[in-house]
Amino acid sequence: MANTNTKFHPKKMDSGFCCNNIVLIGFMGSGKSSVGAALARSLSRVLLDCDTLIEQTESMRIAEIFAKVGEAGFRQKERALAEWLAHNVRNAVIATGGGLPIFYQEIRNLGVVVYLKADFETIHARLSGEERTKRPLFADIDKARALYEERAQSYAACAHYTIDVKGSAHDIASAIITLL
Ligand code: S3P
Repeated sequence: MANTNTKFHPKKMDSGFCCNNIVLIGFMGSGKSSVGAALARSLSRVLLDCDTLIEQTESMRIAEIFAKVGEAGFRQKERALAEWLAHNVRNAVIATGGGLPIFYQEIRNLGVVVYLKADFETIHARLSGEERTKRPLFADIDKARALYEERAQSYAACAHYTIDVKGSAHDIASAIITLL
């Protein structure tokens, strides 16, 4: 995972951001994976997508894991992955699942935490029917909206930085690079 390439400002590099992971958090559909991919490309870093890693490790889709072991079982797997990442990974871009910072409050152990903030209507419009079926907690729109309201404060509270999701993934990645 080691990668010495960074385009961060030297002053910030001195403060330790150079080898830190950049950790993207936010509600389902806020663009963590697509912004993560653009960010990783721009910074020549590796992108680690937590949901994809869990799916690969379990050889099951997220919806199947929820069906088999329930949300609590999924959270255990997610926490185990987060702990592993905190101990073993540096210099990466990490796209988290929407619930990770809610259930793993030590999220800052992973690196610099950036909250991708989007309003619920934007999120809803972005997620196609197929994308919603991949997400058990988005099956019911009213419940998803309530979950969004419930979590919004927690995302903001655990993030080092908050970015409003506006424009393309590339634009948002550039805004994050400028910010850091
Ligand atoms: C979840 C978000 C999903 C996935 C799982 C639970 C959540 O990831 O981890 O369905 O609790 O918000 P995305 O945020 O990538 O959709």
